Amino acid sequence: MDFVRVARSGQVPEGIVRRFFVEDVELAVARSDGVAYAMSNYCTHLDCLLSSGKATEDGLLCSCHGSIFDYESGEPLSPPATRPIRTYPVKEEGGQIYVALPADAAAQERSRRRAQR
Ligand code: FES
Repeated sequence: MDFVRVARSGQVPEGIVRRFFVEDVELAVARSDGVAYAMSNYCTHLDCLLSSGKATEDGLLCSCHGSIFDYESGEPLSPPATRPIRTYPVKEEGGQIYVALPADAAAQERSRRRAQR
């Protein structure tokens, strides 16, 4: 799995979640306590865009119904979501954010979203 450049570090300030597209995968990239995290942009509850949410101290907050997801494991920490979101390894170097996506990430994302419907 190679790391792919996603954004400049300054594009994801503290407490903010932004949406990026990388290799046909839609990502939510958030920053909390200075650390950048990347995950699927779709909430496992009802598919709301997590990039519309907020990066809190506790985790990524979905703005639709308030579930919070752990940044690293993707596990829901509060209802109504019960299933984890997919998370991806991130590294930040030289003012750039890089994400490692498995080769099948786009296909898996499409499959997961179809199964949710
Ligand atoms: S869609 Fe995210 S909590 Fe409902």
